[in-house]
Amino acid sequence: MKLKLHALVAAGVGLVLTTTSAQSQTASTIPHLEKQGTATQLVVDGKPFLALAAELHNSSASSLEYMKPLWPKLVASHLNTVLATVSWELIEPQEGKFDFSLVDGLLQDARTNDLHLVLLWFGSWKNGKSSYQPLWVKTNQARFPLACDSNGKSMPIMTTFSDANRDADAHAFAMLMRHLREVDGEKHTVLMIQVENEVGTLGDSRDRSPAANEAFAKPVPKDLMDYLVQHKDTLAPELLKGWAAHGCKTSGTWTEVFGPGKPASVQLYGPDLTDKKKNIYWRQLNWASDEFFMAWRYSMYVNQVAAAGKAEYDIPMYVNSWLQQPGCPRPGEYPSGGPVPQVHDIWRFGAPAIDILSPDLYIEQFAETCARYTRNGNPLFIPESEAGVRGAANAIYAFGAGNAIGFSPFGADRFAGSDLELTRAYDLLSSVSPLILANQGKGTMTAVLLDATNATQTFRLGNYKIEAKFWLPPAWMHATNTMPGPIAGLFIATGPDDYIIMGRNLAVNFYSTNETESVGIGTDEEGVYENGRWVPGRRLNGDEVYEWRTLHLRDDKYSIQHVKVYRYR
Ligand code: DGJ
Repeated sequence: MKLKLHALVAAGVGLVLTTTSAQSQTASTIPHLEKQGTATQLVVDGKPFLALAAELHNSSASSLEYMKPLWPKLVASHLNTVLATVSWELIEPQEGKFDFSLVDGLLQDARTNDLHLVLLWFGSWKNGKSSYQPLWVKTNQARFPLACDSNGKSMPIMTTFSDANRDADAHAFAMLMRHLREVDGEKHTVLMIQVENEVGTLGDSRDRSPAANEAFAKPVPKDLMDYLVQHKDTLAPELLKGWAAHGCKTSGTWTEVFGPGKPASVQLYGPDLTDKKKNIYWRQLNWASDEFFMAWRYSMYVNQVAAAGKAEYDIPMYVNSWLQQPGCPRPGEYPSGGPVPQVHDIWRFGAPAIDILSPDLYIEQFAETCARYTRNGNPLFIPESEAGVRGAANAIYAFGAGNAIGFSPFGADRFAGSDLELTRAYDLLSSVSPLILANQGKGTMTAVLLDATNATQTFRLGNYKIEAKFWLPPAWMHATNTMPGPIAGLFIATGPDDYIIMGRNLAVNFYSTNETESVGIGTDEEGVYENGRWVPGRRLNGDEVYEWRTLHLRDDKYSIQHVKVYRYR
Protein backbone atom coordinates (compact mmCIF):
# COMPACT_ATOMS: atom_id res chain seq x y z
CA MET A 1 0.00 0.00 0.00
CA LYS A 2 3.03 2.27 0.11
CA LEU A 3 2.88 4.82 -2.62
CA LYS A 4 6.18 6.17 -3.61
CA LEU A 5 7.97 7.22 -6.68
CA HIS A 6 5.12 7.71 -9.09
CA ALA A 7 3.52 10.07 -6.59
CA LEU A 8 6.71 11.99 -6.12
CA VAL A 9 7.45 12.30 -9.78
CA ALA A 10 3.98 13.73 -10.20
CA ALA A 11 4.87 16.55 -7.82
CA GLY A 12 6.53 18.79 -10.40
CA VAL A 13 5.67 21.92 -8.46
CA GLY A 14 8.94 23.71 -8.75
CA LEU A 15 10.11 22.98 -5.24
CA VAL A 16 13.75 22.80 -4.32
CA LEU A 17 13.58 19.45 -2.57
CA THR A 18 16.43 18.27 -0.40
CA THR A 19 18.16 15.18 -1.64
CA THR A 20 17.98 13.74 1.86
CA SER A 21 14.20 13.94 1.78
CA ALA A 22 12.65 10.96 3.49
CA GLN A 23 15.91 9.07 3.13
CA SER A 24 16.99 9.40 6.72
CA GLN A 25 14.08 7.25 7.85
CA THR A 26 13.71 3.78 6.50
CA ALA A 27 10.21 3.20 5.22
CA SER A 28 9.60 0.42 7.69
CA THR A 29 10.09 2.55 10.78
CA ILE A 30 8.01 5.62 10.03
CA PRO A 31 4.20 5.29 10.25
CA HIS A 32 2.99 3.47 7.15
CA LEU A 33 0.22 1.26 5.80
CA GLU A 34 0.50 -2.50 5.42
CA LYS A 35 -1.88 -5.09 4.05
CA GLN A 36 -3.10 -7.92 6.25
CA GLY A 37 -5.44 -10.18 4.31
CA THR A 38 -8.20 -7.95 2.94
CA ALA A 39 -7.49 -5.20 5.46
CA THR A 40 -5.01 -2.34 5.42
CA GLN A 41 -3.45 -1.48 8.76
CA LEU A 42 -1.61 1.53 10.06
CA VAL A 43 1.75 0.39 11.36
CA VAL A 44 3.41 2.54 14.02
CA ASP A 45 6.82 1.65 15.42
CA GLY A 46 6.61 -1.76 13.81
CA LYS A 47 3.18 -2.68 15.20
CA PRO A 48 -0.33 -2.34 13.82
CA PHE A 49 -2.24 0.47 15.51
CA LEU A 50 -5.94 1.27 16.06
CA ALA A 51 -6.48 5.00 16.24
CA LEU A 52 -9.04 5.59 19.00
CA ALA A 53 -9.25 9.25 18.21
CA ALA A 54 -11.18 12.50 18.42
CA GLU A 55 -10.96 15.67 16.37
CA LEU A 56 -10.60 19.09 17.97
CA HIS A 57 -12.70 22.05 16.92
CA ASN A 58 -11.17 23.91 14.01
CA SER A 59 -9.52 26.73 15.97
CA SER A 60 -8.39 24.89 19.12
CA ALA A 61 -4.88 24.02 18.03
CA SER A 62 -4.17 27.64 17.06
CA SER A 63 -3.46 28.36 20.75
CA LEU A 64 -1.29 26.22 23.01
CA GLU A 65 -2.71 28.15 25.97
CA TYR A 66 -6.28 27.21 24.98
CA MET A 67 -5.21 23.58 24.66
CA LYS A 68 -3.60 23.39 28.13
CA PRO A 69 -6.69 22.47 30.18
CA LEU A 70 -7.95 20.24 27.39
CA TRP A 71 -5.10 17.73 27.37
CA PRO A 72 -6.02 16.04 30.69
CA LYS A 73 -9.61 15.69 29.47
CA LEU A 74 -8.45 14.10 26.24
CA VAL A 75 -6.36 11.64 28.24
CA ALA A 76 -9.31 10.91 30.53
CA SER A 77 -11.37 10.00 27.45
CA HIS A 78 -9.02 7.08 26.80
CA LEU A 79 -8.12 8.39 23.38
CA ASN A 80 -4.78 7.49 21.90
CA THR A 81 -4.87 9.98 19.02
CA VAL A 82 -5.97 13.60 18.55
CA LEU A 83 -6.82 15.14 15.18
CA ALA A 84 -5.64 18.75 15.13
CA THR A 85 -5.51 21.51 12.54
CA VAL A 86 -2.35 23.00 11.10
CA SER A 87 -3.28 26.00 8.98
CA TRP A 88 -1.41 27.53 6.11
CA GLU A 89 -2.08 31.08 7.36
CA LEU A 90 -0.33 30.34 10.67
CA ILE A 91 2.75 28.53 9.37
CA GLU A 92 3.45 30.92 6.47
CA PRO A 93 2.16 34.33 7.58
CA GLN A 94 4.56 35.99 5.15
CA GLU A 95 5.46 34.40 1.86
CA GLY A 96 8.48 32.15 2.29
CA LYS A 97 8.77 32.84 6.06
CA PHE A 98 7.76 29.79 8.01
CA ASP A 99 6.88 29.60 11.68
CA PHE A 100 6.47 26.15 13.14
CA SER A 101 6.36 27.15 16.81
CA LEU A 102 2.70 26.12 17.17
CA VAL A 103 3.34 22.76 15.52
CA ASP A 104 6.32 22.18 17.82
CA GLY A 105 4.27 23.09 20.89
CA LEU A 106 1.47 20.78 19.82
CA LEU A 107 3.88 17.88 19.31
CA GLN A 108 5.53 18.56 22.65
CA ASP A 109 2.21 18.64 24.54
CA ALA A 110 0.90 15.54 22.76
CA ARG A 111 4.08 13.67 23.73
CA THR A 112 3.86 14.82 27.34
CA ASN A 113 0.35 13.37 27.41
CA ASP A 114 1.36 10.17 25.63
CA LEU A 115 -0.94 10.91 22.70
CA HIS A 116 -0.46 10.63 18.97
CA LEU A 117 -1.54 13.27 16.46
CA VAL A 118 -3.11 13.23 13.04
CA LEU A 119 -2.54 16.68 11.55
CA LEU A 120 -5.14 18.27 9.30
CA TRP A 121 -3.61 20.45 6.61
CA PHE A 122 -5.99 23.36 6.14
CA GLY A 123 -4.45 24.77 2.99
CA SER A 124 -6.39 25.87 -0.07
CA TRP A 125 -9.78 24.59 1.12
CA LYS A 126 -11.83 23.94 4.20
CA ASN A 127 -15.42 22.70 3.67
CA GLY A 128 -15.31 23.67 0.02
CA LYS A 129 -14.39 27.29 0.73
CA SER A 130 -10.99 28.96 1.00
CA SER A 131 -10.45 30.65 4.33
CA TYR A 132 -7.20 29.25 5.72
CA GLN A 133 -4.85 30.57 3.04
CA PRO A 134 -2.62 33.40 4.35
CA LEU A 135 -3.66 37.01 3.86
CA TRP A 136 -0.95 37.50 1.24
CA VAL A 137 -2.76 34.86 -0.81
CA LYS A 138 -6.31 36.05 -0.02
CA THR A 139 -5.57 39.61 -1.07
CA ASN A 140 -3.78 38.82 -4.31
CA GLN A 141 -6.48 37.38 -6.53
CA ALA A 142 -4.64 38.32 -9.70
CA ARG A 143 -1.90 35.88 -8.70
CA PHE A 144 -4.09 33.44 -6.78
CA PRO A 145 -7.39 33.37 -8.68
CA LEU A 146 -10.81 32.26 -7.43
CA ALA A 147 -13.44 29.99 -8.96
CA CYS A 148 -16.51 31.59 -10.55
CA ASP A 149 -20.21 30.78 -10.42
CA SER A 150 -22.60 30.73 -13.37
CA ASN A 151 -23.11 34.52 -13.11
CA GLY A 152 -19.39 35.00 -13.65
CA LYS A 153 -19.04 36.11 -10.01
CA SER A 154 -16.02 35.01 -8.01
CA MET A 155 -16.71 32.55 -5.22
CA PRO A 156 -14.52 32.48 -2.10
CA ILE A 157 -12.89 29.32 -3.42
CA MET A 158 -9.38 29.11 -4.81
CA THR A 159 -9.72 27.72 -8.32
CA THR A 160 -8.18 24.37 -9.16
CA PHE A 161 -7.34 25.86 -12.57
CA SER A 162 -4.32 27.77 -11.30
CA ASP A 163 -0.82 26.37 -11.05
CA ALA A 164 0.08 29.32 -8.80
CA ASN A 165 -2.59 28.30 -6.27
CA ARG A 166 -1.50 24.70 -6.32
CA ASP A 167 2.23 25.37 -6.18
CA ALA A 168 1.98 27.85 -3.32
CA ASP A 169 -0.09 25.40 -1.28
CA ALA A 170 2.19 22.48 -2.19
CA HIS A 171 5.28 24.47 -1.22
CA ALA A 172 3.91 25.36 2.21
CA PHE A 173 2.78 21.79 2.77
CA ALA A 174 6.16 20.43 1.71
CA MET A 175 7.84 22.75 4.22
CA LEU A 176 5.53 21.46 6.94
CA MET A 177 6.35 17.86 6.06
CA ARG A 178 10.06 18.66 5.94
CA HIS A 179 9.80 20.14 9.41
CA LEU A 180 7.85 17.10 10.67
CA ARG A 181 10.53 14.81 9.33
CA GLU A 182 13.15 16.81 11.19
CA VAL A 183 11.32 16.99 14.51
CA ASP A 184 9.25 13.80 14.44
CA GLY A 185 10.99 11.46 12.02
CA GLU A 186 12.32 9.45 14.96
CA LYS A 187 9.53 9.87 17.51
CA HIS A 188 6.43 9.24 15.35
CA THR A 189 3.98 11.34 17.32
CA VAL A 190 2.31 12.28 14.04
CA LEU A 191 0.73 9.23 12.43
CA MET A 192 -1.01 10.53 9.35
CA ILE A 193 -1.93 13.72 7.55
CA GLN A 194 -5.28 14.87 6.24
CA VAL A 195 -4.66 16.88 3.08
CA GLU A 196 -7.09 19.86 2.90
CA ASN A 197 -10.57 19.55 4.41
CA GLU A 198 -13.77 18.51 2.64
CA VAL A 199 -12.68 19.78 -0.76
CA GLY A 200 -15.03 20.48 -3.64
CA THR A 201 -16.91 23.42 -5.13
CA LEU A 202 -19.63 24.66 -2.83
CA GLY A 203 -22.30 27.00 -4.16
CA ASP A 204 -22.27 25.75 -7.75
CA SER A 205 -21.92 22.33 -9.31
CA ARG A 206 -18.67 23.31 -10.96
CA ASP A 207 -16.16 26.09 -11.36
CA ARG A 208 -17.27 28.35 -14.24
CA SER A 209 -14.20 30.56 -14.51
CA PRO A 210 -12.98 31.08 -18.11
CA ALA A 211 -10.21 28.49 -17.68
CA ALA A 212 -12.68 25.99 -16.22
CA ASN A 213 -15.23 26.58 -19.01
CA GLU A 214 -12.54 26.07 -21.61
CA ALA A 215 -11.46 22.76 -20.07
CA PHE A 216 -15.08 21.64 -19.65
CA ALA A 217 -15.74 22.18 -23.36
CA LYS A 218 -12.77 19.98 -24.29
CA PRO A 219 -12.82 16.17 -24.49
CA VAL A 220 -12.48 14.20 -21.28
CA PRO A 221 -8.70 13.70 -21.03
CA LYS A 222 -7.58 10.52 -22.75
CA ASP A 223 -5.62 9.22 -19.77
CA LEU A 224 -8.72 9.45 -17.58
CA MET A 225 -10.85 7.75 -20.25
CA ASP A 226 -8.26 5.00 -20.60
CA TYR A 227 -8.26 4.50 -16.83
CA LEU A 228 -12.04 4.11 -16.75
CA VAL A 229 -11.94 1.67 -19.65
CA GLN A 230 -9.16 -0.38 -18.00
CA HIS A 231 -10.99 -0.48 -14.65
CA LYS A 232 -14.48 -0.97 -16.03
CA ASP A 233 -15.00 -4.23 -14.12
CA THR A 234 -14.30 -2.66 -10.75
CA LEU A 235 -15.72 0.86 -11.14
CA ALA A 236 -18.09 2.16 -8.48
CA PRO A 237 -21.55 1.06 -9.64
CA GLU A 238 -22.86 4.65 -9.55
CA LEU A 239 -20.08 5.87 -11.83
CA LEU A 240 -20.53 2.95 -14.21
CA LYS A 241 -24.28 3.60 -14.35
CA GLY A 242 -23.72 7.29 -15.10
CA TRP A 243 -21.28 6.39 -17.86
CA ALA A 244 -23.45 3.58 -19.27
CA ALA A 245 -26.49 5.90 -19.33
CA HIS A 246 -24.73 7.74 -22.17
CA GLY A 247 -23.41 4.70 -23.98
CA CYS A 248 -20.05 4.13 -22.22
CA LYS A 249 -18.38 6.34 -24.81
CA THR A 250 -14.60 6.17 -24.78
CA SER A 251 -14.13 9.72 -26.01
CA GLY A 252 -16.07 12.96 -26.20
CA THR A 253 -16.65 16.10 -24.16
CA TRP A 254 -17.69 15.82 -20.53
CA THR A 255 -21.37 16.26 -21.35
CA GLU A 256 -21.18 13.87 -24.32
CA VAL A 257 -19.66 11.16 -22.16
CA PHE A 258 -21.44 11.74 -18.84
CA GLY A 259 -24.60 13.70 -19.70
CA PRO A 260 -25.77 17.23 -19.02
CA GLY A 261 -24.44 19.54 -16.33
CA LYS A 262 -26.53 21.84 -14.17
CA PRO A 263 -28.99 23.95 -16.17
CA ALA A 264 -28.56 27.68 -15.59
CA SER A 265 -32.16 27.94 -14.36
CA VAL A 266 -31.61 25.77 -11.31
CA GLN A 267 -31.05 27.59 -8.05
CA LEU A 268 -28.95 25.75 -5.54
CA TYR A 269 -30.47 25.70 -2.05
CA GLY A 270 -33.59 27.04 -3.77
CA PRO A 271 -37.16 25.96 -3.20
CA ASP A 272 -37.11 23.70 -6.27
CA LEU A 273 -36.32 20.63 -4.19
CA THR A 274 -39.10 19.28 -2.01
CA ASP A 275 -38.17 16.99 0.86
CA LYS A 276 -39.47 14.11 -1.22
CA LYS A 277 -37.12 14.99 -4.07
CA LYS A 278 -34.20 15.46 -1.69
CA ASN A 279 -34.72 11.96 -0.44
CA ILE A 280 -34.58 10.60 -3.96
CA TYR A 281 -31.76 12.80 -5.24
CA TRP A 282 -29.27 11.99 -2.52
CA ARG A 283 -29.01 8.41 -3.67
CA GLN A 284 -28.38 9.21 -7.32
CA LEU A 285 -26.03 11.07 -9.61
CA ASN A 286 -27.10 14.63 -10.40
CA TRP A 287 -25.26 16.61 -13.07
CA ALA A 288 -22.65 13.86 -13.26
CA SER A 289 -20.48 15.63 -15.83
CA ASP A 290 -20.03 18.64 -13.51
CA GLU A 291 -19.18 16.48 -10.51
CA PHE A 292 -16.82 14.15 -12.42
CA PHE A 293 -15.08 17.15 -13.97
CA MET A 294 -14.50 18.73 -10.57
CA ALA A 295 -13.36 15.40 -9.07
CA TRP A 296 -10.76 15.20 -11.82
CA ARG A 297 -9.49 18.73 -11.03
CA TYR A 298 -9.51 18.47 -7.24
CA SER A 299 -7.89 15.04 -7.22
CA MET A 300 -5.02 16.21 -9.44
CA TYR A 301 -4.46 19.39 -7.42
CA VAL A 302 -4.56 17.54 -4.09
CA ASN A 303 -2.28 14.88 -5.50
CA GLN A 304 0.41 17.42 -6.22
CA VAL A 305 0.12 18.93 -2.77
CA ALA A 306 0.29 15.48 -1.15
CA ALA A 307 3.13 14.31 -3.37
CA ALA A 308 5.19 17.40 -2.55
CA GLY A 309 4.70 16.61 1.14
CA LYS A 310 5.48 12.93 0.72
CA ALA A 311 8.70 13.78 -1.06
CA GLU A 312 9.75 15.33 2.27
CA TYR A 313 8.23 12.87 4.71
CA ASP A 314 6.31 9.90 3.41
CA ILE A 315 3.67 9.06 6.01
CA PRO A 316 0.09 8.04 5.15
CA MET A 317 -2.18 10.76 3.79
CA TYR A 318 -5.94 10.86 3.37
CA VAL A 319 -8.66 13.20 2.14
CA ASN A 320 -12.02 13.60 3.86
CA SER A 321 -15.40 14.14 2.27
CA TRP A 322 -18.53 16.09 3.05
CA LEU A 323 -21.07 13.47 2.05
CA GLN A 324 -23.95 13.73 -0.38
CA GLN A 325 -27.01 13.43 1.89
CA PRO A 326 -30.72 14.25 2.07
CA GLY A 327 -30.10 17.83 3.28
CA CYS A 328 -27.72 18.51 0.40
CA PRO A 329 -28.28 15.98 -2.38
CA ARG A 330 -26.85 17.78 -5.44
CA PRO A 331 -23.22 18.63 -6.19
CA GLY A 332 -22.67 22.23 -5.16
CA GLU A 333 -25.02 21.75 -2.21
CA TYR A 334 -22.29 19.45 -0.97
CA PRO A 335 -18.76 20.19 -2.26
CA SER A 336 -18.75 19.07 -5.89
CA GLY A 337 -15.70 16.99 -6.78
CA GLY A 338 -14.85 15.88 -3.23
CA PRO A 339 -14.06 12.19 -2.67
CA VAL A 340 -17.66 10.94 -2.33
CA PRO A 341 -18.19 7.28 -3.28
CA GLN A 342 -19.43 7.83 -6.83
CA VAL A 343 -16.14 9.50 -7.81
CA HIS A 344 -13.67 7.28 -5.94
CA ASP A 345 -12.35 5.90 -9.21
CA ILE A 346 -11.63 9.39 -10.51
CA TRP A 347 -9.80 10.18 -7.26
CA ARG A 348 -7.78 6.98 -7.55
CA PHE A 349 -6.80 8.03 -11.04
CA GLY A 350 -6.06 11.65 -10.15
CA ALA A 351 -4.51 11.25 -6.71
CA PRO A 352 -2.26 8.22 -6.39
CA ALA A 353 -0.36 10.01 -3.59
CA ILE A 354 -3.49 9.83 -1.44
CA ASP A 355 -3.71 6.57 0.52
CA ILE A 356 -7.22 6.78 1.93
CA LEU A 357 -10.53 8.35 0.87
CA SER A 358 -12.43 9.08 4.08
CA PRO A 359 -16.03 9.87 4.95
CA ASP A 360 -16.99 12.54 7.50
CA LEU A 361 -19.73 10.29 8.68
CA TYR A 362 -22.54 12.02 10.53
CA ILE A 363 -25.47 10.58 8.57
CA GLU A 364 -27.67 7.79 9.89
CA GLN A 365 -26.64 5.36 7.14
CA PHE A 366 -23.43 4.48 8.94
CA ALA A 367 -23.04 0.84 7.92
CA GLU A 368 -24.03 1.55 4.31
CA THR A 369 -21.51 4.39 4.09
CA CYS A 370 -18.73 2.24 5.57
CA ALA A 371 -19.50 -0.35 2.89
CA ARG A 372 -19.34 2.29 0.12
CA TYR A 373 -15.99 3.53 1.43
CA THR A 374 -14.39 0.09 1.65
CA ARG A 375 -15.25 -1.02 -1.86
CA ASN A 376 -12.22 -1.84 -3.94
CA GLY A 377 -9.93 -2.07 -0.95
CA ASN A 378 -10.09 1.54 0.21
CA PRO A 379 -9.01 1.48 3.89
CA LEU A 380 -11.56 2.84 6.36
CA PHE A 381 -10.55 5.85 8.44
CA ILE A 382 -13.38 8.00 9.82
CA PRO A 383 -11.96 11.41 10.73
CA GLU A 384 -15.28 12.99 11.73
CA SER A 385 -18.41 11.53 13.27
CA GLU A 386 -20.61 11.83 16.32
CA ALA A 387 -19.61 10.96 19.88
CA GLY A 388 -21.97 9.68 22.62
CA VAL A 389 -23.99 6.46 22.48
CA ARG A 390 -24.13 6.54 18.69
CA GLY A 391 -20.40 7.22 18.44
CA ALA A 392 -19.55 4.35 20.76
CA ALA A 393 -21.63 1.93 18.68
CA ASN A 394 -20.30 3.27 15.39
CA ALA A 395 -16.68 3.00 16.54
CA ILE A 396 -17.11 -0.65 17.53
CA TYR A 397 -18.88 -1.39 14.26
CA ALA A 398 -16.22 0.36 12.15
CA PHE A 399 -13.36 -1.57 13.74
CA GLY A 400 -15.18 -4.92 13.73
CA ALA A 401 -17.00 -4.85 10.40
CA GLY A 402 -14.95 -2.37 8.38
CA ASN A 403 -11.42 -3.21 9.58
CA ALA A 404 -11.11 0.49 10.35
CA ILE A 405 -7.75 2.09 10.97
CA GLY A 406 -9.33 4.75 13.15
CA PHE A 407 -12.48 6.45 14.33
CA SER A 408 -12.67 10.06 15.41
CA PRO A 409 -15.75 11.97 16.58
CA PHE A 410 -15.62 15.71 15.88
CA GLY A 411 -15.52 18.41 18.57
CA ALA A 412 -13.41 16.84 21.33
CA ASP A 413 -13.31 20.16 23.21
CA ARG A 414 -17.02 19.67 23.91
CA PHE A 415 -17.15 16.04 24.97
CA ALA A 416 -13.66 15.09 26.18
CA GLY A 417 -13.76 14.02 29.79
CA SER A 418 -17.55 13.96 29.98
CA ASP A 419 -18.64 11.48 27.32
CA LEU A 420 -18.81 8.30 29.37
CA GLU A 421 -20.23 6.20 26.55
CA LEU A 422 -17.36 6.89 24.20
CA THR A 423 -14.79 6.62 26.98
CA ARG A 424 -16.02 3.18 27.99
CA ALA A 425 -16.12 1.98 24.38
CA TYR A 426 -12.57 3.26 23.77
CA ASP A 427 -11.40 1.67 27.01
CA LEU A 428 -12.76 -1.74 25.98
CA LEU A 429 -11.60 -1.38 22.39
CA SER A 430 -8.14 -0.51 23.60
CA SER A 431 -8.02 -3.62 25.82
CA VAL A 432 -9.21 -5.86 22.94
CA SER A 433 -7.15 -4.09 20.27
CA PRO A 434 -4.40 -6.78 20.02
CA LEU A 435 -7.09 -9.34 19.19
CA ILE A 436 -8.92 -6.99 16.81
CA LEU A 437 -5.70 -6.16 15.01
CA ALA A 438 -4.70 -9.81 14.78
CA ASN A 439 -8.06 -10.64 13.16
CA GLN A 440 -8.48 -7.70 10.76
CA GLY A 441 -8.73 -8.78 7.15
CA LYS A 442 -8.89 -12.51 7.90
CA GLY A 443 -12.63 -13.14 7.79
CA THR A 444 -12.64 -14.13 11.48
CA MET A 445 -14.24 -10.95 12.82
CA THR A 446 -17.40 -9.00 12.18
CA ALA A 447 -19.79 -6.61 13.89
CA VAL A 448 -23.46 -5.63 13.88
CA LEU A 449 -25.21 -2.31 14.45
CA LEU A 450 -28.71 -2.73 15.87
CA ASP A 451 -31.57 -0.63 17.13
CA ALA A 452 -35.29 -1.00 17.69
CA THR A 453 -36.14 -0.87 13.98
CA ASN A 454 -33.23 -2.96 12.77
CA ALA A 455 -33.29 -5.34 15.69
CA THR A 456 -31.92 -8.63 14.34
CA GLN A 457 -29.00 -9.61 12.16
CA THR A 458 -27.92 -13.09 11.17
CA PHE A 459 -24.51 -13.86 9.75
CA ARG A 460 -22.00 -16.64 9.38
CA LEU A 461 -18.74 -16.41 11.27
CA GLY A 462 -16.33 -19.31 11.62
CA ASN A 463 -18.17 -22.62 11.79
CA TYR A 464 -21.52 -21.26 12.96
CA LYS A 465 -24.43 -19.12 11.95
CA ILE A 466 -25.02 -16.42 14.53
CA GLU A 467 -28.16 -14.45 15.24
CA ALA A 468 -27.67 -11.19 17.16
CA LYS A 469 -30.74 -9.44 18.55
CA PHE A 470 -31.20 -6.04 20.11
CA TRP A 471 -32.33 -6.98 23.61
CA LEU A 472 -33.79 -5.01 26.49
CA PRO A 473 -34.70 -6.40 29.88
CA PRO A 474 -38.53 -6.61 29.92
CA ALA A 475 -38.79 -3.93 32.60
CA TRP A 476 -36.65 -1.43 30.70
CA MET A 477 -39.22 0.43 28.65
CA HIS A 478 -41.60 0.57 31.55
CA ALA A 479 -38.96 2.13 33.77
CA THR A 480 -37.33 4.58 31.38
CA ASN A 481 -39.63 4.98 28.40
CA THR A 482 -36.53 5.43 26.24
CA MET A 483 -34.70 3.23 23.83
CA PRO A 484 -30.94 3.03 24.13
CA GLY A 485 -29.16 2.75 20.90
CA PRO A 486 -28.00 2.19 18.40
CA ILE A 487 -25.85 -0.52 19.90
CA ALA A 488 -23.05 -2.58 18.44
CA GLY A 489 -21.88 -6.14 18.86
CA LEU A 490 -18.40 -7.24 17.82
CA PHE A 491 -17.71 -10.93 17.21
CA ILE A 492 -14.34 -12.63 16.85
CA ALA A 493 -13.98 -16.34 16.11
CA THR A 494 -11.00 -17.31 18.26
CA GLY A 495 -11.20 -21.06 17.59
CA PRO A 496 -13.38 -23.63 15.81
CA ASP A 497 -16.02 -23.39 18.59
CA ASP A 498 -14.83 -20.28 20.44
CA TYR A 499 -15.93 -16.67 20.22
CA ILE A 500 -15.12 -13.41 21.92
CA ILE A 501 -18.14 -11.10 21.89
CA MET A 502 -18.16 -7.45 22.88
CA GLY A 503 -21.52 -5.72 23.09
CA ARG A 504 -24.43 -4.45 25.10
CA ASN A 505 -28.19 -5.06 25.07
CA LEU A 506 -27.61 -8.14 22.98
CA ALA A 507 -29.08 -11.64 22.84
CA VAL A 508 -27.03 -14.08 20.78
CA ASN A 509 -27.95 -17.51 19.41
CA PHE A 510 -25.69 -19.92 17.55
CA TYR A 511 -26.85 -22.31 14.85
CA SER A 512 -25.14 -25.13 13.08
CA THR A 513 -24.78 -25.01 9.33
CA ASN A 514 -26.08 -28.59 9.43
CA GLU A 515 -29.79 -28.37 10.21
CA THR A 516 -29.90 -31.75 11.93
CA GLU A 517 -27.62 -30.43 14.67
CA SER A 518 -28.45 -28.13 17.57
CA VAL A 519 -25.94 -25.85 19.21
CA GLY A 520 -25.56 -25.37 22.94
CA ILE A 521 -23.51 -23.00 25.03
CA GLY A 522 -20.66 -25.07 26.42
CA THR A 523 -19.13 -22.45 28.67
CA ASP A 524 -19.63 -18.72 28.90
CA GLU A 525 -17.44 -16.33 30.86
CA GLU A 526 -17.56 -12.63 31.28
CA GLY A 527 -14.16 -11.04 31.64
CA VAL A 528 -11.69 -8.42 30.59
CA TYR A 529 -8.48 -8.25 28.61
CA GLU A 530 -5.46 -7.12 30.56
CA ASN A 531 -2.26 -6.60 28.61
CA GLY A 532 -3.67 -8.76 25.84
CA ARG A 533 -4.51 -11.65 28.21
CA TRP A 534 -8.07 -12.82 28.93
CA VAL A 535 -8.92 -12.52 32.63
CA PRO A 536 -12.21 -14.31 33.34
CA GLY A 537 -14.81 -12.97 35.77
CA ARG A 538 -18.09 -14.76 36.50
CA ARG A 539 -18.86 -18.09 34.84
CA LEU A 540 -22.29 -17.45 33.34
CA ASN A 541 -24.89 -20.22 33.41
CA GLY A 542 -28.48 -20.83 34.46
CA ASP A 543 -30.66 -17.72 34.08
CA GLU A 544 -27.75 -15.85 32.52
CA VAL A 545 -27.62 -18.29 29.58
CA TYR A 546 -31.28 -18.72 28.86
CA GLU A 547 -32.24 -22.35 28.24
CA TRP A 548 -28.60 -23.21 27.68
CA ARG A 549 -28.60 -21.69 24.26
CA THR A 550 -29.04 -17.91 24.33
CA LEU A 551 -26.20 -15.81 25.51
CA HIS A 552 -27.00 -12.32 26.77
CA LEU A 553 -24.93 -9.20 27.10
CA ARG A 554 -27.65 -7.79 29.29
CA ASP A 555 -26.21 -4.55 30.53
CA ASP A 556 -26.67 -1.19 28.96
CA LYS A 557 -22.89 -0.91 29.18
CA TYR A 558 -20.44 -2.59 26.83
CA SER A 559 -18.84 -5.74 28.20
CA ILE A 560 -17.02 -8.81 26.89
CA GLN A 561 -17.81 -12.52 27.03
CA HIS A 562 -15.86 -15.58 25.94
CA VAL A 563 -18.12 -18.39 24.82
CA LYS A 564 -17.43 -21.98 23.78
CA VAL A 565 -20.27 -23.62 21.90
CA TYR A 566 -20.88 -27.27 21.00
CA ARG A 567 -23.15 -29.25 18.72
CA TYR A 568 -25.62 -31.99 19.70
CA ARG A 569 -28.20 -34.10 17.86
C1 DGJ B 1 -17.19 19.33 8.95
C2 DGJ B 1 -15.84 19.98 8.85
O1 DGJ B 1 -14.96 19.16 8.14
C3 DGJ B 1 -15.27 20.30 10.21
O2 DGJ B 1 -14.05 20.99 10.05
C4 DGJ B 1 -16.25 21.12 10.99
O3 DGJ B 1 -16.47 22.32 10.36
C5 DGJ B 1 -17.53 20.33 11.13
N1 DGJ B 1 -18.06 20.03 9.83
C6 DGJ B 1 -18.55 21.09 11.95
O4 DGJ B 1 -19.63 20.30 12.21
